[in-house]
Parts: sequence; C-alpha cells; structure tokens
Amino acid sequence: MSKRIGILTSGGDCAGLNAVIRAVVHRAIRGFGWQVLGIHQGTMGLLARPPKFEELDLRLFTGNILRMGGTILGTTNRGDPFAFPMPDGSIADRSPEITEACRELELDALIGIGGDGSLRILRQLAQQGGINLVGIPKTIDNDIGLTEVSVGYDTAVNVATEALDRLQPTAASHSRVMILEVMGRDAGHIALVAGIAGGADVILIPEIPYSMGSVAGKIEQVKADGRNFALVIVAEAVKGTEGAVVTKSHVGGAATYGGVGHELGARIAEATGAETRVTVLGHLQRGGTPSARDRLMASAFGVHAVNLIAEERFDRMVAWQQRGVVDVPLAEAIAAYQAVDVDGAAVRTARGLGICLGD
Ligand code: F6P
Repeated sequence: MSKRIGILTSGGDCAGLNAVIRAVVHRAIRGFGWQVLGIHQGTMGLLARPPKFEELDLRLFTGNILRMGGTILGTTNRGDPFAFPMPDGSIADRSPEITEACRELELDALIGIGGDGSLRILRQLAQQGGINLVGIPKTIDNDIGLTEVSVGYDTAVNVATEALDRLQPTAASHSRVMILEVMGRDAGHIALVAGIAGGADVILIPEIPYSMGSVAGKIEQVKADGRNFALVIVAEAVKGTEGAVVTKSHVGGAATYGGVGHELGARIAEATGAETRVTVLGHLQRGGTPSARDRLMASAFGVHAVNLIAEERFDRMVAWQQRGVVDVPLAEAIAAYQAVDVDGAAVRTARGLGICLGD
C-alpha cells in the first residue's frame, strides 16, 4: 500500500543528518514508491499554519547532500510544544496543534531524527496524538541508551582529535600546556575518545571527579620526563572552581555549558607555573562534512527506519549494536541514558596509557 511519510530533524544539528534524510528518501521512494514530506525546523514546522514542509524527491539528492553538514530541513532545540513560550511571556501546551498538522498532512508515519530530549518530546506527542513514530538517534554527545553510536558522534570525535593534532606542534614550539574544551553535555565520550586518539596527557570528563593536585602532578611529571609541552582535553560539563558546572547565558535567555577550559587553564598556570593557552572547540564539532562512519550509520539507520514503517512496527528507535543495525523500544532507549562507563574499555585504555583522568 502506498504511504505518505514525514521526516524531521530536531534538537542540535550534527554532521550526518542529511545523509539520514537521503537514505530515508532513497529507501521510501526506490524501495516502496512512497511519498516523503520533509518538515521544516523540527516541530516548529508542524506548529506553523499552514505547516512548513516540502516534498522530498530523488531529484534533490544528486550527489552533494550526502556530504553536506547541517540539515537541509532546518532544526531547533527550543520551543517544547508541551511548554511553549508564548510572545506574552506565558507558557502554553501547543501539542494538539502538532497532531492536527500530522492529520492535515495525511501522514501515515513520522520519522523523527533527534537526541534524547527531542525523542522524548516526539514520543509523548506520538502517544498522545496517535502518530506512528520511528526514532533515529543523532547527537554528538553519544549519550542515547541502547545504541553504541548516534549519528554525528564520530565526526565530532574526529574534529576534536584533529584539534589536538594541530595544537600539539604549536604547544611544542612554545613549551606550553594547551587546554582543549570540547562539547558533550553531561557525557564525556568526545573528550575521552578524542583524548586517547589525540595523545592527551590529561582527560577530564564529568563522570570522573578530578582534583587539581592530580592534574598539576601529571603536568609536573611530563616536564620531569623531559617533555616541554602537555595536552589537556576537558569536557564542557566538568565542574569548575566553585564546584559547579560553568555555563554561559546567551541573549534571549538560553544557557549552555562553556567556559570551564579557561578556568582550568588559569588554575594549571597558577599551580605549575606553566604557560597555558585555551581553545574552546564549540560548534566546529557539529558542522562540516560527516565522516565515513557517520555516513554509514546514517544510511543504515535511514534504510532501517523505512523498513520498520513498511512492517508497521512503530514506537521503535533504530540502533547500532554489535556491528549491525537493530531496533529497540523507543521508550527504553530514552530511559537508558548512556554516560561513559568508568570501568569500561576506553577508560581502562586511557589509564593503561598513563593518561591522567584527574582522580
Ligand atoms: O547536545 C549537543 C550539543 O552540541 C552539546 O554538546 C552542547 O552542550 C549543546 O548542544 C550546545 O547547544 P547550542 O547549539 O544551543 O549552543
């Protein structure tokens, strides 16, 4: 039976989103002859009247979109439809408008590409409005449960590793300690893996509390061993001097993590006498061309999500487990937050290499 499916990207963008959209369109049209509607700006497109969308056909995907960063559909990490900030300052539940838009667009199913927060909201909308939802995990933070990887993570790790590769020679030329602050929200996956791959001497992640004594001791030891520079990588949600995470507020009221690297740089300089410099990698980790691995994940997830719709299996999330694509109950994936396993292989590898984890 012919179907009409919707697809949207929600939450912070990352590399590989366009590769997911392409895979969905290829599978849905080539495999089943369905119609695919791309919803603009995540759930915002479904709150607009008329809803904002475009029909996605194969002519759009002539070769470049697979390689492009960002999302051709646009996205948002603001405006929860269940608690929507209205222009007059009040908060409104606009969720029924989403159900209404899905009916108006005559969607047989919806594919939502999101992180844990977006997938939670989309699932609540689907349960309430009877929307046939399939989720695809994406986030550079790699903190979604029941999947070993989410789209965007591998590219972010590669960008952070390349940053260390570029910091190392300038650190050595100037005999400095370089501090690299990376994203990841409350999970230290990017810092840990990029730190190992990029030869960091110190890796600080939110899952392992650190002491300045331990960090300074490592820097002193590197110096005593005859090396004139050191590399430190720190995850953005590691606690700062005051014992709380460091955040910055943006015009418009939003607050994000960011700034702990500068505090750390000052403290290391104070404790060791070393000259320090700080780089905050920020959104460079989210933009740009997706890695081969992210394109593979994106393609496998997109194809499998369409197959699930063909089998009428909804309320599922596609996932990567043990070298293959599988699907899991969406509710279970959302509930199973995936922080760094402090006894896991990556942490043991770091310790085995003599990298200081701050404890
Ligand atoms: O969740 C993805 C992420 O990039 C986090 O790593 C980071 O803390 C946050 O989004 C930044 O959000 P924004 O795009 O609003 O600055």
